[in-house]
Amino acid sequence: MKVKIKDKDFDIFLTDKEIETAVSTLAKKINTDYTDKDPLLVAVLNGSFIFCADLIRHLNFDPEISFTKLASYQGSESTGKVNELIGLTEDIKGRHILIVEDIIDTGNTLEKIIKILNEKEVASVEIVSLLFKSEVYKKKTPVRYFGLDIPNKFVIGYGLDYDGRGRSLRHIYQIAEG
Ligand code: HPA
Ligand code: MG
Repeated sequence: MKVKIKDKDFDIFLTDKEIETAVSTLAKKINTDYTDKDPLLVAVLNGSFIFCADLIRHLNFDPEISFTKLASYQGSESTGKVNELIGLTEDIKGRHILIVEDIIDTGNTLEKIIKILNEKEVASVEIVSLLFKSEVYKKKTPVRYFGLDIPNKFVIGYGLDYDGRGRSLRHIYQIAEG
């Protein structure tokens, strides 16, 4: 099965069934590790919204969830570039945080998010990402929970976009060769 989004062709890469299996496996691990921890799920918009919605319905506890977005702006001359997590208004001091991502590649954004969370004196921070491009990941922070380690090719669907489109696709598609 192929799809065309704007100027690019994509081939099917993971079916909705395969995604469902990956989400359910991840949820089982989180159920085991987070019993009695009452974690706050911090879902990073936009891409993670579908994964997050499916993941929480596989958990055996009812988690608190916050949706956030990383914003960068130019501060004063002395502060330089400032990173901020928009929408994260909860008091998170002492909480166990689970960052929910659709995909991790270089880890650049992730590292900024983790730094901000740690400055707020959280009890712990771990990452749960549906997809992980481990071959391009450059950071030391381990990605504790990932569904599938995938090659460094552009993917869309199940929340992931190409130029704002493709998020509603039920399967995950990979950019076609050539
Ligand atoms: N697809 C969509 N969004 C992304 C990707 C990708 O492969 N990698 C990082 N953001
Ligand atoms: Mg995107």
